[in-house]
Amino acid sequence: MKVDVERRDAASSSADVVAVGLFGVDGSDERPPAALAKDDAVLGGLLLPAWKRREIRGKRGEVTVFHRPGGRGRWVTVGLGPAAGHTAEAVRRAAALTLRSLKGRGARTLAFRLGSFTSDAVSPASAARALTDGAILGGYEFLRYRTVAEPGVEEVALALGEEFASEERRLGAEVSEQILIAENVVWTREIGNLPADTATPQRLAEIAKELGKDAGLKVTVLDEKELARLGCGGLLAVGGGSVHPPRMIVLEYPGGSRRGRTIAVVGKGITFDSGGLSIKPAARMAEMKYDKSGAVAVLGILRGAARLKVAPRVIGVLCCAENLPSGSSYRPGDVVKTYNGKTIEIINTDAEGRVVLADGLGYVSKEYRPDEIVDLATLTGAEVVALGDNTAGLVSPDDRLAAGLLAASAATGEPIWRMPLGDYHRELVKSEIADVRNSTEIAVAGMLTAAAFLEAFVGAGIPWAHLDIAGPAWTSLLTKRYQAPYLSLGATGFGVRTLLQYLQHPPA
Ligand code: BES
Ligand code: ZN
Ligand code: ZN
Repeated sequence: MKVDVERRDAASSSADVVAVGLFGVDGSDERPPAALAKDDAVLGGLLLPAWKRREIRGKRGEVTVFHRPGGRGRWVTVGLGPAAGHTAEAVRRAAALTLRSLKGRGARTLAFRLGSFTSDAVSPASAARALTDGAILGGYEFLRYRTVAEPGVEEVALALGEEFASEERRLGAEVSEQILIAENVVWTREIGNLPADTATPQRLAEIAKELGKDAGLKVTVLDEKELARLGCGGLLAVGGGSVHPPRMIVLEYPGGSRRGRTIAVVGKGITFDSGGLSIKPAARMAEMKYDKSGAVAVLGILRGAARLKVAPRVIGVLCCAENLPSGSSYRPGDVVKTYNGKTIEIINTDAEGRVVLADGLGYVSKEYRPDEIVDLATLTGAEVVALGDNTAGLVSPDDRLAAGLLAASAATGEPIWRMPLGDYHRELVKSEIADVRNSTEIAVAGMLTAAAFLEAFVGAGIPWAHLDIAGPAWTSLLTKRYQAPYLSLGATGFGVRTLLQYLQHPPA
Protein backbone atom coordinates (compact mmCIF):
# COMPACT_ATOMS: atom_id res chain seq x y z
CA MET A 1 0.00 0.00 0.00
CA LYS A 2 1.32 3.38 -1.02
CA VAL A 3 0.28 6.48 0.97
CA ASP A 4 1.17 10.05 0.01
CA VAL A 5 0.10 13.60 0.70
CA GLU A 6 -0.91 15.74 -2.26
CA ARG A 7 -1.46 19.48 -2.41
CA ARG A 8 -4.45 19.60 -4.66
CA ASP A 9 -7.96 19.58 -3.39
CA ALA A 10 -9.98 16.36 -3.27
CA ALA A 11 -12.37 17.72 -5.91
CA SER A 12 -9.64 17.84 -8.55
CA SER A 13 -8.12 14.50 -7.48
CA SER A 14 -7.58 11.92 -10.20
CA ALA A 15 -8.23 9.05 -7.76
CA ASP A 16 -10.86 6.42 -8.60
CA VAL A 17 -12.62 7.26 -5.34
CA VAL A 18 -12.59 10.36 -3.16
CA ALA A 19 -13.54 9.78 0.50
CA VAL A 20 -15.04 12.45 2.72
CA GLY A 21 -15.49 12.15 6.47
CA LEU A 22 -18.99 13.06 7.56
CA PHE A 23 -19.86 14.15 11.10
CA GLY A 24 -23.21 13.18 12.50
CA VAL A 25 -25.55 15.24 14.62
CA ASP A 26 -26.87 14.60 18.09
CA GLY A 27 -30.27 13.01 18.58
CA SER A 28 -33.08 14.34 16.48
CA ASP A 29 -31.28 17.47 15.20
CA GLU A 30 -32.25 17.74 11.52
CA ARG A 31 -29.83 20.51 10.59
CA PRO A 32 -26.78 19.30 8.66
CA PRO A 33 -23.46 19.46 10.53
CA ALA A 34 -21.52 22.68 9.90
CA ALA A 35 -18.68 20.96 8.03
CA LEU A 36 -21.06 19.47 5.49
CA ALA A 37 -21.68 22.76 3.71
CA LYS A 38 -17.94 23.25 3.24
CA ASP A 39 -17.43 19.76 1.82
CA ASP A 40 -20.50 20.16 -0.34
CA ALA A 41 -19.16 23.36 -1.90
CA VAL A 42 -15.90 21.60 -2.78
CA LEU A 43 -17.56 18.45 -4.01
CA GLY A 44 -20.22 19.91 -6.21
CA GLY A 45 -23.50 19.94 -4.29
CA LEU A 46 -24.34 16.24 -4.02
CA LEU A 47 -24.12 16.01 -0.26
CA LEU A 48 -26.70 18.48 1.07
CA PRO A 49 -29.59 17.02 -0.94
CA ALA A 50 -28.54 13.55 0.23
CA TRP A 51 -28.58 14.80 3.81
CA LYS A 52 -32.05 16.23 3.33
CA ARG A 53 -33.24 12.91 1.90
CA ARG A 54 -31.81 11.30 5.11
CA GLU A 55 -29.60 9.17 2.88
CA ILE A 56 -26.49 10.17 4.81
CA ARG A 57 -26.48 10.82 8.58
CA GLY A 58 -22.79 10.67 9.52
CA LYS A 59 -23.30 7.67 11.79
CA ARG A 60 -20.20 5.68 12.64
CA GLY A 61 -19.78 2.83 10.19
CA GLU A 62 -22.00 4.43 7.53
CA VAL A 63 -20.43 4.34 4.06
CA THR A 64 -22.35 5.85 1.12
CA VAL A 65 -21.27 5.88 -2.51
CA PHE A 66 -22.00 8.76 -4.93
CA HIS A 67 -21.23 8.71 -8.61
CA ARG A 68 -19.76 11.91 -9.96
CA PRO A 69 -21.64 13.38 -12.89
CA GLY A 70 -20.09 12.55 -16.24
CA GLY A 71 -18.59 9.26 -15.09
CA ARG A 72 -15.64 10.99 -13.41
CA GLY A 73 -15.21 8.51 -10.60
CA ARG A 74 -16.90 8.09 -7.22
CA TRP A 75 -17.16 9.92 -3.94
CA VAL A 76 -17.87 8.10 -0.74
CA THR A 77 -18.91 9.63 2.53
CA VAL A 78 -17.87 7.80 5.65
CA GLY A 79 -19.65 8.49 8.94
CA LEU A 80 -17.59 9.74 11.90
CA GLY A 81 -20.30 10.14 14.54
CA PRO A 82 -21.03 13.46 16.30
CA ALA A 83 -18.22 16.04 16.03
CA ALA A 84 -18.31 16.57 19.80
CA GLY A 85 -16.91 13.11 20.53
CA HIS A 86 -14.45 13.03 17.62
CA THR A 87 -11.17 11.13 18.13
CA ALA A 88 -8.20 9.95 16.09
CA GLU A 89 -9.47 6.42 16.68
CA ALA A 90 -12.72 7.29 14.84
CA VAL A 91 -10.60 8.46 11.88
CA ARG A 92 -8.50 5.29 11.97
CA ARG A 93 -11.66 3.19 11.86
CA ALA A 94 -13.27 5.30 9.15
CA ALA A 95 -10.21 4.94 6.91
CA ALA A 96 -10.11 1.18 7.41
CA LEU A 97 -13.82 0.86 6.75
CA THR A 98 -13.51 2.84 3.51
CA LEU A 99 -10.80 0.53 2.23
CA ARG A 100 -12.69 -2.56 3.24
CA SER A 101 -15.89 -1.51 1.58
CA LEU A 102 -13.98 -0.81 -1.66
CA LYS A 103 -12.41 -4.27 -1.77
CA GLY A 104 -13.32 -5.98 -5.02
CA ARG A 105 -15.29 -2.91 -6.15
CA GLY A 106 -13.01 -1.70 -8.93
CA ALA A 107 -11.13 1.00 -7.03
CA ARG A 108 -7.34 1.03 -7.20
CA THR A 109 -6.66 4.60 -6.08
CA LEU A 110 -8.31 6.48 -3.22
CA ALA A 111 -8.02 10.05 -1.98
CA PHE A 112 -9.10 11.16 1.49
CA ARG A 113 -10.14 14.80 1.86
CA LEU A 114 -8.01 15.55 4.93
CA GLY A 115 -9.98 18.59 6.08
CA SER A 116 -13.15 16.55 6.52
CA PHE A 117 -11.50 14.31 9.15
CA THR A 118 -10.17 17.08 11.42
CA SER A 119 -11.89 18.82 14.34
CA ASP A 120 -10.98 20.93 17.36
CA ALA A 121 -9.87 17.73 19.05
CA VAL A 122 -8.15 16.05 16.09
CA SER A 123 -5.42 18.15 14.46
CA PRO A 124 -4.53 17.84 10.77
CA ALA A 125 -1.35 15.99 11.74
CA SER A 126 -3.19 13.55 13.95
CA ALA A 127 -5.91 13.01 11.33
CA ALA A 128 -3.26 12.42 8.65
CA ARG A 129 -1.55 9.85 10.84
CA ALA A 130 -4.82 8.10 11.70
CA LEU A 131 -5.86 7.94 8.03
CA THR A 132 -2.48 6.46 7.14
CA ASP A 133 -2.71 3.93 9.96
CA GLY A 134 -6.29 2.94 9.18
CA ALA A 135 -5.64 2.62 5.44
CA ILE A 136 -2.55 0.44 5.77
CA LEU A 137 -3.85 -1.73 8.61
CA GLY A 138 -7.39 -1.94 7.22
CA GLY A 139 -6.16 -2.79 3.73
CA TYR A 140 -4.12 -5.73 4.99
CA GLU A 141 -5.14 -9.31 4.35
CA PHE A 142 -3.11 -12.48 4.79
CA LEU A 143 -2.81 -13.70 1.20
CA ARG A 144 0.18 -16.02 1.31
CA TYR A 145 -1.88 -19.18 0.83
CA ARG A 146 -4.58 -17.79 -1.46
CA THR A 147 -4.37 -18.63 -5.11
CA VAL A 148 -7.05 -16.07 -6.00
CA ALA A 149 -7.48 -12.73 -4.27
CA GLU A 150 -9.83 -9.82 -4.76
CA PRO A 151 -7.97 -6.66 -5.73
CA GLY A 152 -8.41 -3.62 -3.53
CA VAL A 153 -7.08 -0.09 -3.14
CA GLU A 154 -3.34 0.07 -3.76
CA GLU A 155 -2.64 3.78 -3.60
CA VAL A 156 -3.93 6.29 -1.09
CA ALA A 157 -3.56 10.06 -1.27
CA LEU A 158 -4.30 12.51 1.51
CA ALA A 159 -5.64 15.53 -0.34
CA LEU A 160 -4.61 18.67 1.53
CA GLY A 161 -6.35 21.28 -0.60
CA GLU A 162 -5.88 25.02 -0.13
CA GLU A 163 -6.62 24.65 3.56
CA PHE A 164 -3.41 22.72 4.38
CA ALA A 165 -1.26 23.05 1.23
CA SER A 166 1.20 25.26 3.10
CA GLU A 167 1.76 22.47 5.63
CA GLU A 168 2.66 19.87 3.01
CA ARG A 169 6.19 19.30 4.31
CA ARG A 170 5.27 18.87 7.95
CA LEU A 171 2.26 16.66 7.22
CA GLY A 172 4.32 14.67 4.73
CA ALA A 173 6.89 13.94 7.44
CA GLU A 174 4.18 12.84 9.90
CA VAL A 175 2.69 10.54 7.28
CA SER A 176 6.08 9.04 6.38
CA GLU A 177 6.70 8.13 9.99
CA GLN A 178 3.24 6.63 10.38
CA ILE A 179 3.71 4.59 7.19
CA LEU A 180 6.83 3.13 8.73
CA ILE A 181 4.97 2.20 11.93
CA ALA A 182 1.91 0.72 10.19
CA GLU A 183 4.02 -1.20 7.64
CA ASN A 184 5.84 -2.63 10.59
CA VAL A 185 2.57 -3.94 12.03
CA VAL A 186 1.76 -5.48 8.64
CA TRP A 187 5.17 -7.18 8.64
CA THR A 188 4.45 -8.49 12.14
CA ARG A 189 1.00 -9.80 11.13
CA GLU A 190 2.48 -11.58 8.12
CA ILE A 191 4.79 -13.61 10.40
CA GLY A 192 2.15 -14.02 13.10
CA ASN A 193 -0.19 -15.59 10.55
CA LEU A 194 2.26 -18.30 9.49
CA PRO A 195 1.05 -21.72 10.63
CA ALA A 196 3.05 -23.83 13.05
CA ASP A 197 4.46 -26.21 10.42
CA THR A 198 6.22 -23.21 8.87
CA ALA A 199 6.88 -20.88 11.79
CA THR A 200 8.91 -23.33 13.88
CA PRO A 201 11.26 -21.99 16.57
CA GLN A 202 14.17 -22.46 14.14
CA ARG A 203 12.32 -20.62 11.35
CA LEU A 204 11.66 -17.70 13.73
CA ALA A 205 15.38 -17.68 14.49
CA GLU A 206 16.14 -17.46 10.75
CA ILE A 207 13.66 -14.61 10.35
CA ALA A 208 15.33 -12.82 13.27
CA LYS A 209 18.76 -13.33 11.67
CA GLU A 210 17.55 -11.90 8.36
CA LEU A 211 15.99 -8.97 10.19
CA GLY A 212 19.26 -8.42 12.00
CA LYS A 213 21.09 -8.10 8.69
CA ASP A 214 18.48 -5.76 7.18
CA ALA A 215 18.00 -3.52 10.20
CA GLY A 216 21.48 -3.58 11.69
CA LEU A 217 20.60 -5.48 14.86
CA LYS A 218 22.83 -7.90 16.73
CA VAL A 219 21.05 -11.27 16.83
CA THR A 220 22.01 -14.24 18.99
CA VAL A 221 20.25 -17.58 18.72
CA LEU A 222 20.55 -20.02 21.61
CA ASP A 223 19.87 -23.54 20.32
CA GLU A 224 18.99 -26.57 22.47
CA LYS A 225 22.65 -27.32 23.24
CA GLU A 226 23.34 -23.77 24.32
CA LEU A 227 20.10 -23.70 26.33
CA ALA A 228 21.17 -26.88 28.14
CA ARG A 229 24.60 -25.39 28.86
CA LEU A 230 22.98 -22.24 30.29
CA GLY A 231 20.46 -24.17 32.38
CA CYS A 232 17.32 -23.00 30.58
CA GLY A 233 15.26 -25.93 31.82
CA GLY A 234 11.93 -24.20 31.17
CA LEU A 235 12.37 -23.89 27.41
CA LEU A 236 13.83 -27.40 27.20
CA ALA A 237 10.95 -28.93 29.17
CA VAL A 238 8.19 -27.25 27.16
CA GLY A 239 9.92 -27.92 23.83
CA GLY A 240 10.81 -31.49 24.71
CA GLY A 241 7.75 -33.09 23.11
CA SER A 242 8.34 -31.67 19.64
CA VAL A 243 10.74 -32.60 16.85
CA HIS A 244 11.22 -28.85 16.42
CA PRO A 245 13.62 -27.97 19.25
CA PRO A 246 13.25 -24.75 21.31
CA ARG A 247 15.18 -21.55 20.71
CA MET A 248 15.85 -18.43 22.69
CA ILE A 249 16.39 -15.55 20.28
CA VAL A 250 18.01 -12.33 21.48
CA LEU A 251 18.03 -9.11 19.42
CA GLU A 252 19.90 -5.97 20.34
CA TYR A 253 19.23 -2.47 19.06
CA PRO A 254 22.03 -0.25 20.37
CA GLY A 255 19.95 2.90 20.86
CA GLY A 256 20.18 6.38 19.50
CA SER A 257 22.21 7.93 22.31
CA ARG A 258 25.20 6.42 24.03
CA ARG A 259 24.10 6.95 27.60
CA GLY A 260 20.45 6.01 26.97
CA ARG A 261 18.32 3.67 29.02
CA THR A 262 18.03 -0.03 28.24
CA ILE A 263 14.53 -1.43 27.80
CA ALA A 264 13.99 -5.17 27.42
CA VAL A 265 10.97 -6.66 25.67
CA VAL A 266 10.37 -10.37 26.20
CA GLY A 267 7.85 -12.39 24.18
CA LYS A 268 6.11 -15.74 24.57
CA GLY A 269 6.84 -17.68 21.39
CA ILE A 270 4.89 -20.94 21.58
CA THR A 271 4.72 -21.82 17.89
CA PHE A 272 1.86 -24.20 18.65
CA ASP A 273 0.13 -24.84 21.96
CA SER A 274 -1.69 -28.18 21.95
CA GLY A 275 -1.58 -28.09 25.75
CA GLY A 276 0.94 -30.94 25.76
CA LEU A 277 -0.03 -33.98 27.85
CA SER A 278 -2.63 -31.77 29.58
CA ILE A 279 -4.10 -31.59 26.08
CA LYS A 280 -6.60 -28.95 25.00
CA PRO A 281 -10.04 -29.80 23.54
CA ALA A 282 -10.17 -29.90 19.72
CA ALA A 283 -12.53 -26.93 19.38
CA ARG A 284 -10.50 -23.83 18.50
CA MET A 285 -7.19 -25.62 18.96
CA ALA A 286 -6.20 -24.38 15.50
CA GLU A 287 -6.03 -20.85 16.93
CA MET A 288 -3.09 -21.91 19.08
CA LYS A 289 -0.78 -21.22 16.13
CA TYR A 290 -1.12 -17.62 17.35
CA ASP A 291 0.40 -18.51 20.71
CA LYS A 292 3.66 -17.08 19.39
CA SER A 293 2.14 -13.59 19.05
CA GLY A 294 4.10 -12.05 21.93
CA ALA A 295 7.42 -13.15 20.46
CA VAL A 296 6.46 -12.05 16.95
CA ALA A 297 5.43 -8.65 18.36
CA VAL A 298 8.92 -8.39 19.88
CA LEU A 299 10.39 -8.90 16.39
CA GLY A 300 8.18 -6.10 15.07
CA ILE A 301 9.09 -3.83 17.96
CA LEU A 302 12.83 -4.30 17.38
CA ARG A 303 12.41 -3.77 13.64
CA GLY A 304 10.42 -0.61 14.26
CA ALA A 305 12.80 0.68 16.93
CA ALA A 306 15.71 0.38 14.49
CA ARG A 307 13.85 2.05 11.65
CA LEU A 308 12.55 4.87 13.82
CA LYS A 309 15.96 5.17 15.48
CA VAL A 310 14.39 5.48 18.93
CA ALA A 311 16.61 6.81 21.72
CA PRO A 312 16.69 3.91 24.23
CA ARG A 313 18.71 0.77 23.74
CA VAL A 314 16.26 -2.10 23.20
CA ILE A 315 16.84 -5.78 23.91
CA GLY A 316 14.33 -8.23 22.45
CA VAL A 317 14.04 -11.79 23.77
CA LEU A 318 11.88 -14.44 22.09
CA CYS A 319 11.16 -17.60 24.09
CA CYS A 320 10.26 -20.11 21.40
CA ALA A 321 9.10 -23.71 21.75
CA GLU A 322 6.38 -25.99 20.45
CA ASN A 323 4.13 -27.55 23.11
CA LEU A 324 3.15 -31.05 21.92
CA PRO A 325 2.37 -34.37 23.60
CA SER A 326 4.74 -37.24 22.81
CA GLY A 327 6.96 -39.82 24.49
CA SER A 328 9.51 -37.11 25.22
CA SER A 329 7.09 -34.47 26.54
CA TYR A 330 7.42 -32.93 29.96
CA ARG A 331 4.78 -34.15 32.39
CA PRO A 332 2.56 -32.91 35.19
CA GLY A 333 4.53 -33.55 38.37
CA ASP A 334 7.94 -32.80 36.85
CA VAL A 335 10.16 -30.23 38.50
CA VAL A 336 12.24 -28.07 36.18
CA LYS A 337 15.14 -25.78 37.01
CA THR A 338 15.31 -22.49 35.11
CA TYR A 339 18.10 -20.13 34.08
CA ASN A 340 18.19 -18.14 37.34
CA GLY A 341 18.26 -21.33 39.43
CA LYS A 342 14.66 -21.19 40.61
CA THR A 343 12.59 -24.37 40.35
CA ILE A 344 9.11 -24.89 38.96
CA GLU A 345 6.69 -27.67 39.83
CA ILE A 346 4.72 -28.52 36.70
CA ILE A 347 1.04 -29.00 37.57
CA ASN A 348 -0.39 -28.51 34.09
CA THR A 349 1.62 -28.74 30.87
CA ASP A 350 -0.84 -26.31 29.25
CA ALA A 351 0.45 -23.50 31.49
CA GLU A 352 3.62 -23.55 29.37
CA GLY A 353 3.99 -19.88 28.47
CA ARG A 354 5.07 -18.85 31.96
CA VAL A 355 7.56 -21.73 32.00
CA VAL A 356 9.40 -20.55 28.86
CA LEU A 357 9.16 -16.90 29.95
CA ALA A 358 10.82 -17.84 33.26
CA ASP A 359 14.04 -18.52 31.34
CA GLY A 360 13.73 -15.41 29.17
CA LEU A 361 13.03 -13.06 32.08
CA GLY A 362 15.84 -14.57 34.17
CA TYR A 363 18.26 -14.42 31.25
CA VAL A 364 17.63 -10.83 30.24
CA SER A 365 17.68 -9.66 33.88
CA LYS A 366 21.10 -11.14 34.53
CA GLU A 367 22.81 -10.68 31.16
CA TYR A 368 21.66 -7.11 30.43
CA ARG A 369 20.50 -5.62 33.74
CA PRO A 370 17.91 -3.53 31.83
CA ASP A 371 16.31 -0.41 33.31
CA GLU A 372 12.88 -1.85 32.51
CA ILE A 373 11.38 -5.12 31.30
CA VAL A 374 8.07 -5.44 29.44
CA ASP A 375 6.83 -8.89 28.48
CA LEU A 376 4.12 -9.67 25.94
CA ALA A 377 2.36 -13.03 26.06
CA THR A 378 -0.83 -14.78 24.99
CA LEU A 379 -0.69 -16.17 28.48
CA THR A 380 -4.15 -17.02 29.83
CA GLY A 381 -7.68 -17.79 28.77
CA ALA A 382 -8.62 -15.94 31.97
CA GLU A 383 -7.42 -12.69 30.37
CA VAL A 384 -9.94 -13.11 27.56
CA VAL A 385 -12.72 -13.88 30.04
CA ALA A 386 -11.87 -10.83 32.14
CA LEU A 387 -11.30 -8.19 29.46
CA GLY A 388 -12.64 -9.52 26.18
CA ASP A 389 -11.09 -10.05 22.78
CA ASN A 390 -10.02 -6.47 22.19
CA THR A 391 -8.22 -5.49 25.39
CA ALA A 392 -4.87 -6.54 26.82
CA GLY A 393 -4.33 -6.99 30.55
CA LEU A 394 -1.49 -4.98 32.08
CA VAL A 395 0.04 -6.19 35.32
CA SER A 396 2.86 -4.20 36.89
CA PRO A 397 3.98 -3.41 40.42
CA ASP A 398 5.61 -0.24 39.00
CA ASP A 399 3.25 2.75 38.74
CA ARG A 400 5.54 4.82 36.54
CA LEU A 401 6.04 2.09 33.96
CA ALA A 402 2.34 1.20 34.04
CA ALA A 403 1.33 4.85 33.53
CA GLY A 404 3.76 5.16 30.63
CA LEU A 405 2.30 2.11 28.89
CA LEU A 406 -1.27 3.29 29.49
CA ALA A 407 -0.45 6.70 28.01
CA ALA A 408 1.10 5.03 24.97
CA SER A 409 -1.98 2.83 24.61
CA ALA A 410 -4.29 5.86 24.70
CA ALA A 411 -2.28 7.41 21.88
CA THR A 412 -2.34 4.35 19.60
CA GLY A 413 -5.86 3.13 20.30
CA GLU A 414 -4.70 -0.34 21.34
CA PRO A 415 -6.82 -0.94 24.48
CA ILE A 416 -4.96 -1.93 27.64
CA TRP A 417 -6.42 -2.21 31.14
CA ARG A 418 -4.38 -2.41 34.32
CA MET A 419 -5.13 -5.23 36.77
CA PRO A 420 -4.00 -5.52 40.40
CA LEU A 421 -1.30 -7.90 41.61
CA GLY A 422 -1.15 -8.74 45.30
CA ASP A 423 0.25 -11.14 47.86
CA TYR A 424 -2.86 -13.29 47.54
CA HIS A 425 -1.88 -14.10 43.94
CA ARG A 426 1.76 -14.66 44.93
CA GLU A 427 0.63 -17.08 47.63
CA LEU A 428 -1.39 -19.11 45.13
CA VAL A 429 1.63 -20.00 42.98
CA LYS A 430 3.83 -21.21 45.85
CA SER A 431 4.70 -24.91 45.60
CA GLU A 432 5.07 -27.52 48.36
CA ILE A 433 8.14 -29.03 46.70
CA ALA A 434 9.63 -26.33 44.46
CA ASP A 435 9.93 -22.52 44.46
CA VAL A 436 6.78 -22.00 42.40
CA ARG A 437 4.17 -24.11 40.63
CA ASN A 438 2.79 -23.35 37.18
CA SER A 439 -0.88 -23.75 38.06
CA THR A 440 -3.15 -23.53 41.08
CA GLU A 441 -5.76 -25.92 42.48
CA ILE A 442 -8.44 -23.25 42.53
CA ALA A 443 -9.28 -21.54 39.26
CA VAL A 444 -9.36 -17.91 40.42
CA ALA A 445 -7.71 -14.80 38.95
CA GLY A 446 -5.87 -16.82 36.32
CA MET A 447 -4.37 -13.74 34.67
CA LEU A 448 -2.96 -12.56 37.99
CA THR A 449 -1.60 -15.83 39.31
CA ALA A 450 0.21 -16.17 35.96
CA ALA A 451 1.66 -12.68 36.47
CA ALA A 452 2.67 -13.51 40.06
CA PHE A 453 4.52 -16.52 38.69
CA LEU A 454 6.41 -14.40 36.11
CA GLU A 455 7.37 -11.83 38.74
CA ALA A 456 9.45 -14.47 40.52
CA PHE A 457 11.84 -14.55 37.55
CA VAL A 458 12.36 -10.80 37.11
CA GLY A 459 15.68 -9.60 38.50
CA ALA A 460 15.33 -7.88 41.90
CA GLY A 461 14.74 -4.14 41.62
CA ILE A 462 14.05 -4.07 37.86
CA PRO A 463 10.76 -2.32 37.01
CA TRP A 464 8.64 -4.82 35.10
CA ALA A 465 5.32 -4.87 33.30
CA HIS A 466 3.43 -7.83 31.91
CA LEU A 467 1.01 -7.53 28.99
CA ASP A 468 -1.32 -10.50 28.65
CA ILE A 469 -2.41 -10.20 25.01
CA ALA A 470 -4.39 -13.46 24.81
CA GLY A 471 -7.52 -11.53 23.75
CA PRO A 472 -6.31 -8.95 21.23
CA ALA A 473 -3.42 -10.87 19.60
CA TRP A 474 -5.67 -12.27 16.90
CA THR A 475 -9.14 -11.86 15.44
CA SER A 476 -11.30 -14.93 14.84
CA LEU A 477 -14.34 -15.22 12.61
CA LEU A 478 -16.40 -15.33 15.81
CA THR A 479 -15.27 -11.90 16.99
CA LYS A 480 -14.50 -10.13 13.72
CA ARG A 481 -17.74 -8.23 13.53
CA TYR A 482 -17.23 -6.64 16.95
CA GLN A 483 -13.63 -5.64 16.31
CA ALA A 484 -12.15 -2.42 14.97
CA PRO A 485 -12.14 -2.58 11.15
CA TYR A 486 -8.38 -2.13 10.96
CA LEU A 487 -7.87 -5.46 12.73
CA SER A 488 -7.66 -8.06 10.00
CA LEU A 489 -8.73 -11.65 10.48
CA GLY A 490 -5.90 -13.59 12.13
CA ALA A 491 -2.85 -12.03 13.73
CA THR A 492 -3.32 -8.36 14.64
CA GLY A 493 0.25 -7.36 15.54
CA PHE A 494 -1.11 -6.09 18.86
CA GLY A 495 1.46 -4.33 21.02
CA VAL A 496 3.78 -3.19 18.26
CA ARG A 497 2.26 0.27 17.86
CA THR A 498 1.95 0.85 21.61
CA LEU A 499 5.48 -0.27 22.46
CA LEU A 500 6.93 1.81 19.64
CA GLN A 501 4.96 4.80 20.90
CA TYR A 502 6.35 4.08 24.37
CA LEU A 503 9.92 3.85 23.07
CA GLN A 504 9.52 7.07 21.09
CA HIS A 505 7.99 8.97 24.02
CA PRO A 506 9.26 7.37 27.24
CA PRO A 507 7.75 8.78 30.46
CA ALA A 508 9.73 11.57 32.15
N1 BES B 1 -1.99 -20.17 25.26
C1 BES B 1 -2.84 -20.43 26.35
C2 BES B 1 -3.69 -19.22 26.73
C3 BES B 1 -4.79 -18.85 25.77
C4 BES B 1 -6.00 -19.51 25.81
C5 BES B 1 -4.62 -17.80 24.91
C6 BES B 1 -7.03 -19.13 24.96
C7 BES B 1 -5.64 -17.42 24.07
C8 BES B 1 -6.85 -18.09 24.09
C9 BES B 1 -2.05 -20.81 27.59
O1 BES B 1 -0.87 -21.48 27.36
C10 BES B 1 -2.92 -21.70 28.42
O2 BES B 1 -3.31 -22.71 27.95
N2 BES B 1 -3.19 -21.29 29.66
C11 BES B 1 -4.03 -22.01 30.53
C12 BES B 1 -3.42 -21.93 31.90
C13 BES B 1 -4.04 -22.87 32.91
C14 BES B 1 -3.76 -24.30 32.53
C15 BES B 1 -3.45 -22.54 34.26
C16 BES B 1 -5.42 -21.39 30.51
O3 BES B 1 -5.52 -20.16 30.41
O4 BES B 1 -6.38 -22.13 30.57
ZN1 ZN C 1 -1.13 -23.58 27.15
ZN1 ZN D 1 0.05 -21.06 25.50
